[in-house]
Amino acid sequence: MSFPVQQVRADFPVLSREVNGQPLAYLDSAASAQKPEAVIDAEARFYREGYAAVHRGIHTLSAEATARMEAVRASAARFLNAARAEEIVFVRGTTEGINLVANSWGNDQLRAGDNIIISEMEHHANIVPWQMLCQRSGAQLRVIPLNQDGTLQLEAFHQLLDERTRLLAIAQVSNVLGTENPLPTLIDAAHRAGAKVLVDGAQAVMHHAVDVQALGCDFYVFSGHKLYGPTGIGVLYARHDILQQMPPWQGGGSMIATVSLTQGTTYAAAPWRFEAGTPDTGAIIGFGAALEYVTHLGLDNIGEYESALMHYALQALREVPDLALYGPARRRGVIAFNLGKHHAYDVGSFLDNYGIAVRTGHHCAMPLMAFYGVPAMCRASLAMYNTQQEVDRLVAGLQRIHRLLG
Ligand SMILES: Cc1ncc(COP(=O)(O)O)c(C=O)c1O
Repeated sequence: MSFPVQQVRADFPVLSREVNGQPLAYLDSAASAQKPEAVIDAEARFYREGYAAVHRGIHTLSAEATARMEAVRASAARFLNAARAEEIVFVRGTTEGINLVANSWGNDQLRAGDNIIISEMEHHANIVPWQMLCQRSGAQLRVIPLNQDGTLQLEAFHQLLDERTRLLAIAQVSNVLGTENPLPTLIDAAHRAGAKVLVDGAQAVMHHAVDVQALGCDFYVFSGHKLYGPTGIGVLYARHDILQQMPPWQGGGSMIATVSLTQGTTYAAAPWRFEAGTPDTGAIIGFGAALEYVTHLGLDNIGEYESALMHYALQALREVPDLALYGPARRRGVIAFNLGKHHAYDVGSFLDNYGIAVRTGHHCAMPLMAFYGVPAMCRASLAMYNTQQEVDRLVAGLQRIHRLLG
C-alpha cells in the first residue's frame, strides 16, 4: 500500500499556506514539526469543554482531566513499549528530561573519579547538563570521536569505557547528520562495563518504532513537538527499578505525600515525584492525539515512505554544483549541507524567498561544527508530509542560488 501523503498533508492546515508568494515547502520538521488538525482540535476541545486542574480535586472536570492525562501516560508507555505506565515521566521536552536525569540520578550517583561518555555529534541538550554534572561531582566527561562521514569511532568508544563509567548518553539519530547510532552494540558494551545508558530519541521517534525493552536502555527521552504534538511536552522513560530509587529534583505541589513544617516532607511515588507543579495538561492531551495520529498511520509505513524520499533527495541533490553534504550515506530525516563558500544564512534566506523553509546555523551542535571546521550548515529535514515535488523545489532553488551567487 502506498503512503497516503496527500491525505496526510491535508490534515496539516499550515501546509496549504503561501510564504513569499510561493507554496510553503516546510523542510524544518527536525527543529519542530507542524501539527495536524487532530492535535490542534484535541487541545482546543480540552480547553473549551473539559478544562480543570489535574490531581487536585474530586469534582468531575478535575477527575476527567486527571484520567485523560493518565491515559496519555499509558499511551506513551505503549508507544515506547515500556513495561508500565509508571516508567513515563512527563517533562517539557528532551532538554528537561536530560536535566532531570542529570540532577536527580546524576547528583545521587556520580562521584569524583567517575566518568560519563557522550559523543561528538550530540545536541547541546545532551552535552551541557553532563558538563554541569561533572563540574558538580568531579566526574570526567569523555567524548566518542567521529569518523569523517559522521559515524562514531567504535574502537575509540570501547577504549573510553572502563569500570568508572557510570553513564553513556547518546543520540539515537543525530539532529544534524541523520546518523543512526548502533544502539544495540553501544548499550551492550556499556552495560557489560556496569554503566547505565540514556538514549536521546528526539530525532528518532518520528521515523521508526521504538521499543525500549528490546533496546534495553535505562533512560529514553524525546519531545512531543518534533512528533507532530504541541510544544512544552515531552517524555522521560526510566526503567522502573531505577526511577523508584531516584530522588526528586524539583519540589512543590503534586510531588509530595505529606508536608509538615516540623517533620519534613515525604514524597509521592514515581513518576509523580518528578512532576512538581501544575502540568501543561492541554499539551499532554494534544500529545496524546499526536501519538494516536502517528500510530494510526503506522511508524513502519511512515519510516518506509521517508526512507524512499530520502533516497530520492540524495540522488536529486547530486545535480547541485558545489554542494557539500555532511553525514553518512545511510541517514534518517535530515540532510545537512553547505553551498560553495556561501554562508548558510545567505543560502537559507534565498530559499526562504522561494518559499522553502530550511534550518541554518550551528543546530545546537557547536562541537560538530568545529569537527567539520564550519561555522554553520543548512539543514533540510524530510518528514512524513514532505514530497518529491518539494525536494525538486529545493534542488532547483539551490541551483538558482548557485547561478546567482556563483
Ligand atoms: C537530538 C536532539 N536532542 C535534544 C534536542 C532538544 O529538544 P527540546 O528543545 O525539544 O528539548 C533536540 C532538538 O532539536 C535534538 O534534535
